[in-house]
Amino acid sequence: MNAKATVDRDFAIGKIDPRIYGSFIEHLGRVIYGGIYEPLHPRADANGFRRDVIDVVKELRVPLIRYPGGNYSSSYDWRDSVGPVAERPARPDLAWRSLEPNTFGLDELDRWSKELPAGVLMTLNMGTQGLREAIELLEYCNLPGGTSLSDLRRRHGREKPYGIKLWCLGNEIDGPWQVGQKSAAEYGRLANETAKAMKLLDPEVKVCVCGSSFLKMPTFPEWEQTVLDLCYDNVDYLSLHTYCRNERAERSAYLAEPVGMERYLETALGVCDRVRLKKGAAKRLDVSFDEWNVWPRARESDRDRDPWQVAPPLLEEAYTTEDALVFACMLNVLLRHAERVPIACLSLLVNALAPIMTETGGAVWRQTTFYPFKYACLYGTGSSLRLAVDGPVYEDRVFGSVPFLDASAAYDSARGEIAVFLVNRSDASAIDLELALGRGEHAELIEHVVLESGDPMAGNDAGSPGRVVPRRKDGPSESVGGAFRLSLPAFSWNMIRLAL
Ligand code: AHR
Repeated sequence: MNAKATVDRDFAIGKIDPRIYGSFIEHLGRVIYGGIYEPLHPRADANGFRRDVIDVVKELRVPLIRYPGGNYSSSYDWRDSVGPVAERPARPDLAWRSLEPNTFGLDELDRWSKELPAGVLMTLNMGTQGLREAIELLEYCNLPGGTSLSDLRRRHGREKPYGIKLWCLGNEIDGPWQVGQKSAAEYGRLANETAKAMKLLDPEVKVCVCGSSFLKMPTFPEWEQTVLDLCYDNVDYLSLHTYCRNERAERSAYLAEPVGMERYLETALGVCDRVRLKKGAAKRLDVSFDEWNVWPRARESDRDRDPWQVAPPLLEEAYTTEDALVFACMLNVLLRHAERVPIACLSLLVNALAPIMTETGGAVWRQTTFYPFKYACLYGTGSSLRLAVDGPVYEDRVFGSVPFLDASAAYDSARGEIAVFLVNRSDASAIDLELALGRGEHAELIEHVVLESGDPMAGNDAGSPGRVVPRRKDGPSESVGGAFRLSLPAFSWNMIRLAL
């Protein structure tokens, strides 16, 4: 197959906010206990944090961590997670039907995130709680002292405020699986009043309001319309989530799922702009894509587990090369919309639906999805570029025309580099790519990195952590006549770095 892609550093879509490479740790399965926090592990530090896991997380340079859920946030009580650890209560967590010991809480989160270092996106409980608890937690976190809850924090040994400036007003509140699900009208009013009160207490906070949980929610996009009609002026970002699944159990259909993610994002942005126009508002509302990932297998077995265990292994997907390609297409969607998606969180970071896996008491390793994420974090910086792509497509029953070649690009003027991220969706044929530079500019190839494997279903595990890893591919060292001729192997992810 042949394809042509033209990249021009002047065709910028917009700046890439580093927070687009955020991630997420939830009180879910072994994300925290046995993942990032395991006091009895040989590599644990004095805080109980696993240093081997911190080292691998640091390779990703994650700038933002969402916490404490997810579904978990809709029935947790923040007061259980503060103060002396020995006095914190164990509670049943309704979201995952696990036992929550609360030995990792707010102060532990603050110390762990500073190790990376990363900022925090805190999710409020808008399920079993509401406005009052939101402003109480904000007072505890952000006021310097002299009030009841800021002084409580100081008595807990934390003199300086945590200074958390980014908040989610609940999580997936439209979903029937959510504890405390609400209608759009109920939620829109609550979100508006909560955002208003939070900004009276700390005018520097920014808040994300829940959009629809995913494309196929029956209330999408009316949910956005109703909610934003009620709270547009007081909120800062629309929160969206997408997990690409292999529901049709067919490779080409699975690879087409990110097309649905892109339509969902563009439609939601359309509603934001419609409400803006209706209200005559100067403010533009952008998106916090604060949960995204591939979630190919249903994990039916999780449902058979006995409830009320501490940190049972939940959602422990073993990712394949196929999953990594779908994942990389999702990353391309985010980069292509970088000007309207300043925040995104890969859900999750460790053990559950994660790029990083651990054995409790043992090793840490990287899944296939780790690599496209890592290279985007390292080189998908600066400005996102509009690529002109001309290549073959296939027809999908649900999403229509799907390009075999999926692409995004970034130009980092400080480094004088363009990075192009490419997925060849075809498992049958390589793509011979003509990668042209705008205005016939001259460039040198720094590297062509490829992730592929002979078996699309191959992945890594504790025994074979290096089965599917990226490799450098030979290619032309410089452009000829303003273009490179490159071969993208069948069913591969590729990063091309060019020095201008
Ligand atoms: O990431 C796992 C779960 O998926 C989150 O808790 C929830 O928000 C989503 O449905």
